[in-house]
Amino acid sequence: MKQYTLAHRKDFSGLTFKTDAPRPIIQSPTGVLIQIKALSLNARDLQVANGTYPPPHDIPDDLVPASDAAGEIVECGSKVDLWRTGDKVCTVVFLGHDQDEDVQYHTMCQGLGAAINGIAQEYFVVDQSQLLAMPAHMTYEEGSTLTIAATTAWSSLYGHHPKLKAGDTVLCLGSGGVSVFAAQIALNAGAKVIITSSSDNKIAQVKKLLQPLVRPGSPADVLQAINYNTTPDWDKEVAKLTGGRKVDIVIEISGRATLGKSIRSTRSGGLVAISGYLSDYSDLDPKIKEEDLAKTLLYNAVNARGNFVGNKQQFTDMNRAFEIGGVRPVVDKVFEFEQLKEAYDYLQSAKHIGKVVVKVAA
Ligand SMILES: NC(=O)c1ccc[n+]([C@@H]2O[C@H](COP(=O)([O-])OP(=O)(O)OC[C@H]3O[C@@H](n4cnc5c(N)ncnc54)[C@H](OP(=O)(O)O)[C@@H]3O)[C@@H](O)[C@H]2O)c1
Repeated sequence: MKQYTLAHRKDFSGLTFKTDAPRPIIQSPTGVLIQIKALSLNARDLQVANGTYPPPHDIPDDLVPASDAAGEIVECGSKVDLWRTGDKVCTVVFLGHDQDEDVQYHTMCQGLGAAINGIAQEYFVVDQSQLLAMPAHMTYEEGSTLTIAATTAWSSLYGHHPKLKAGDTVLCLGSGGVSVFAAQIALNAGAKVIITSSSDNKIAQVKKLLQPLVRPGSPADVLQAINYNTTPDWDKEVAKLTGGRKVDIVIEISGRATLGKSIRSTRSGGLVAISGYLSDYSDLDPKIKEEDLAKTLLYNAVNARGNFVGNKQQFTDMNRAFEIGGVRPVVDKVFEFEQLKEAYDYLQSAKHIGKVVVKVAA
């Protein structure tokens, strides 16, 4: 079968394509064999490829990368009772992260595409308990985007306190995978969204893509956006747009460059849900570097919480909400399997909105 492995971890040039890898075999009575139809990429996959992913475990040599996929079950072990051949499924990233609110050390050591081999291959074997049914209204390309980005957005909004309520305002930083999903989940739940982005062009596109989730008759301010390059004091703009109240939850994905402003954009008692630190790889304004974040948190009386993907129960709840709300993932571009390196390059360029997907099989 076709398969990618990572020959080194300096950058994604280590991706090595084979067409003669052995097809995996079901070893346990509860194992299932999946034909991977599509996969999607995450910032994590770039980090694993360039050696900056900081897990508390080793990454094996010649790792099969990536974790997020949708596919079809083509064979079931003798004791499989949850699935049948032909079922459409999504992968979970941390095997065993079923019910616990937060990911645990032992489940991090079972992370696809980092601690253990992932899904950048045509076939994949996993225990029947470590899969979810793909939402019925989605294509394989759409279903492949849910595993990390969507469940991270969901658990940022529902996994901690305070939890999202209708009528809340959610601030989503940037137009990448996690933030666009968070905006969709929030709008679908009857909340308001403010999205920040690097360009007016991206803002216009994101607003158009999110528009189907804006309920008819909603006030004009249900979906607003700020260009953080032309409005560098965007925290003040957030306060203005919310009539001084500020937002209830921030989807924080950028780290040092934005954390102080995210805290200052949040109402007292609100939540900054921290998932990423994209800006750690860029030059920072010295004023930002010097900010005493402990004081900023204290004097704004805000909760800040590290957020690590979502568990299987949250993934299930999210899929149900997506089905009922007709929410469809925003897929920016679909690459062929042979173009996986191009797909990594495109993700790294940050030109995308939402998700970058790779078709694995027809
Ligand atoms: N903790 C977890 O479980 C978890 C799960 C998923 C992702 N993450 C992390 O969360 C981060 C985002 O992941 P992703 O999958 O959404 O990445 P992504 O799709 O690659 O998002 C990239 C986008 O983020 C925006 N961005 C970059 N720097 C920004 C800044 N300083 N201010 C505002 N927006 C900025 C840009 O959008 P614009 O051009 O529109 O500004 C960029 O296109 C990454 O660091 C990732 O590792 C963590």
